[in-house]
Amino acid sequence: MADINIEKAKAEISRRGFLDVSVDASVDLFHEIELLKKEKNAIVLAHYYQEPDIQDVADYIGDSLGLAQQAEKTNADIIVFAGVHFMAETAKILNPKKKVVLPDLKAGCSLADSAPADAFKAFKEKHPDHIVISYINCTADIKAMSDIICTSSNAQKIIESVPKDQPIIFAPDKNLGAYLIKKTGRDMLLWNGACMVHEIFSQQKILKLKAQHPDAKIIAHPECEEAVLQHADYIGSTTQLLKFAVIDSANEFIVATETGILHQMQKDAPLKTFIPAPPDNMCACNDCPHMKLNTLEKLYLCMKYEQPEILMDELIRVASLKPIQRMLEISKAAGLGG
Ligand code: 13P
Ligand code: SF4
Repeated sequence: MADINIEKAKAEISRRGFLDVSVDASVDLFHEIELLKKEKNAIVLAHYYQEPDIQDVADYIGDSLGLAQQAEKTNADIIVFAGVHFMAETAKILNPKKKVVLPDLKAGCSLADSAPADAFKAFKEKHPDHIVISYINCTADIKAMSDIICTSSNAQKIIESVPKDQPIIFAPDKNLGAYLIKKTGRDMLLWNGACMVHEIFSQQKILKLKAQHPDAKIIAHPECEEAVLQHADYIGSTTQLLKFAVIDSANEFIVATETGILHQMQKDAPLKTFIPAPPDNMCACNDCPHMKLNTLEKLYLCMKYEQPEILMDELIRVASLKPIQRMLEISKAAGLGG
């Protein structure tokens, strides 16, 4: 490992979330990252909401299910997770012996934050006859209290795998939960959480945009509110949205999810037009401030110094592994994922 004072570095990481080491502007980060991958047998897993440069250096780009599946099967010694904390934590839960690093430890998630462990425990205790299906966008503490984990690409199949007479708590995303109640006809008890990025899309502005682009198809992530989803021609996880945009006959799409996905859409379908759905604020597009804490420079530094590292309590890790494994088994049997 490169020569820095590791104790000082750890103190700085716990304060700032990342290593603030200056990198000379002449360093070719793309080249150095490739060298570090080989030297350390490291794999870079990135979510579609990461900035384009990070997506371009990644060994795999995917949605939450694809990323968990890649983390489960990798032979790399170091997993460099370009995403948010709950995603890197999931990789660590699956790989206790591997080193998992995240470019910025403060890359959190408003949805995961909306389910604090104590409050969720009390809620669960009030409904002892219910099983808990949790969306992967939650902390390891919540996963440890869950029976099965799901993602936006397998949630319907996961719910349908549970006997019809079994009451279900669905947490933490109330918008995804409401969408799934409609899709499956299951009357689930919903935790009141939401994603700050998907909740903020403006139905009015989307309709105005659609009037200007009548041939455009509206595609949306199921974390959006019903007011937006009701106008969507297609609803799916980030990977499903990308696949749909590539194979569908339409040439124009209004995309109601975080703008990072537009990079791959444009790469995979260069002749098509992708318009970010506008949020209900002054911005024209919608970035996740947590995802965008990661930068190419931070990614390079975290590979070089192998910090910040995801560390976790072993009891919580073992308890949270079970519901993730159930999700992966059900997904495999259903042929889902990448
Ligand atoms: P997916 O990529 O699994 O659809 O998740 C979207 C998301 O909000 C991740 O934080
Ligand atoms: Fe969390 Fe929403 Fe950001 Fe995804 S887009 S990391 S759900 S805040």
